[in-house]
Amino acid sequence: MKTTKLIACAFAFAVLAAAGCAPSAPDKPTWVDDVQPVMMANCVRCHGSPAAGGAPSTFRLDLYEDTLENGQQIRGAATMGRWICIRGSVAGDMPPNGSAIPTRARDIFQNWFGANCRGAEAPTVFERGTRAANAEPTITINTGNSKGDDTLELDYIVSDADRESVTGSLLLGEDSADAACKAAGGRVDLAPLPIHGGAGHVSFDTGTLCAGTYKLSASITDGTPGLTVARQLGTVTVEHPGGNLAPRVELVKPGPDALLNGKVAPITVEFTVHDGDGDYPVTYTVTAVKGDERDDLTPASASAGTPGQANTVPLNVQVPVDASKLTDSPSWRFEIAVKDAREARRQLVTPYVVVSSLDPASVAIRFNSGGGPEGKGILAVLGGCTDCHGGTLSVPDLDFDPSKPETYAPRLGVLYRKVIQKREMPPKSSKQLIGAAPDDVLTAENRELLRQWLLVGAPMN
Ligand code: HEC
Ligand code: HEC
Repeated sequence: MKTTKLIACAFAFAVLAAAGCAPSAPDKPTWVDDVQPVMMANCVRCHGSPAAGGAPSTFRLDLYEDTLENGQQIRGAATMGRWICIRGSVAGDMPPNGSAIPTRARDIFQNWFGANCRGAEAPTVFERGTRAANAEPTITINTGNSKGDDTLELDYIVSDADRESVTGSLLLGEDSADAACKAAGGRVDLAPLPIHGGAGHVSFDTGTLCAGTYKLSASITDGTPGLTVARQLGTVTVEHPGGNLAPRVELVKPGPDALLNGKVAPITVEFTVHDGDGDYPVTYTVTAVKGDERDDLTPASASAGTPGQANTVPLNVQVPVDASKLTDSPSWRFEIAVKDAREARRQLVTPYVVVSSLDPASVAIRFNSGGGPEGKGILAVLGGCTDCHGGTLSVPDLDFDPSKPETYAPRLGVLYRKVIQKREMPPKSSKQLIGAAPDDVLTAENRELLRQWLLVGAPMN
């Protein structure tokens, strides 16, 4: 049966490739013509935005270049080229669970990066290519509806005729806003809202904006170098029939993935609040939330601002947290609810934080002493990571180098999530790239040392 199929195939190929007999991979594949279509067909359902199916959220494979999402650097396919090639062709274990990709697709990966994926260094081999006739992305938007006088709800459709992944944002910019409100420090701008290809929905919090007219515009790109499409989408009128502006609440800390340990430093939730029409005092509650569990953390006197005094600058509020109310867990969030003197309300939920009560006195390990392999501390625990981080296989644009203490500070939380909680590092590609399985690069024992070191605030000495 197999032979018959093969022969039939060879015949068909001679006439011109028929179904099942794809032409061989090009010697010099490009992203737009060859690699991206393979990604779209096999990888992007997990490695897109948001990441799905348990895939890491630190990179996406639908985009060629790196991007920023919520202030975090997200690596694109060009940066991840070597690893795409390894997992997609040499190891062949992506997509997971046995659904291997066609041989031609594997060849495309290898020709794109270099034989066995270990070839020449990036980036020259990662050809992006250009489409002879690139179709610009387009956006259409419905007229939008206001929910009460509080939010502007918009549905959009972003299309790209040649199926590239589109990223961008929607922006409300001031056209002419109420002068008195502005003078009192009222808000006339909102952060741009991210949009993506396909159909989507965004919601602008116009309840905190000074009354007036605002211009709605979009900025989108399909990744073609130098191409950003700007579109004016009309004017929006913001009115506050009740005459009351909602208070504006912004988080100061904790940031995403913060590691909090009440025995290392007092835990506080810090935010700013500003009421555009001066309805002070504002009152607030802070609640710690984990799954179904809720704990009220608000101190006895929970208000800010003096009645009748219009503050032109936002007030800073710090709420001390009773750490004994929080069990050890990586999935706490804080819910901040604020209402102004006329009862207009706003609420904010912080990103997830890691809470621990591990006693620092019980943890001996330091950055370069106090235990670990040969008593050399975390530096030696992470010794196996240096081939890829700081070494010859270094990831472009990734400046985490285990031997440099200064590169840790912004990544303690990322290290915890990626290495301890989700176990994405060391990656499975370690085996092919540095000849050591992930469990040998970082043993269970060393992972535990890293966990403890992180949870007591990563002491240096
Ligand atoms: C069903 C979801 C899913 C699909 C589809 C999928 N992946 Fe993954 N991918 C994962 C998960 C989960 C991980 C993290 C665990 C791991 O490394 O195995 C991962 C990790 C990776 C990594 C980083 C880990 C390393 O070893 O460096 C790369 C690179 C990767 N995938 C490439 C691909 C490519 C290329 C495709 C398409 C050919 C693909 N993936 C399709 C789920 C998926
Ligand atoms: C085989 C190569 C390889 C090894 C070994 C390796 N990494 Fe990575 N690491 C990567 C790649 C590729 C990325 C970028 C893709 C991703 O985020 O999954 C990455 C990303 C990371 C990030 C995210 C950094 C950021 O700013 O987003 C951290 C943290 C990290 N690695 C820690 C480690 C630690 C700790 C070890 C050792 C225990 C280790 N890695 C070993 C290849 C490697």
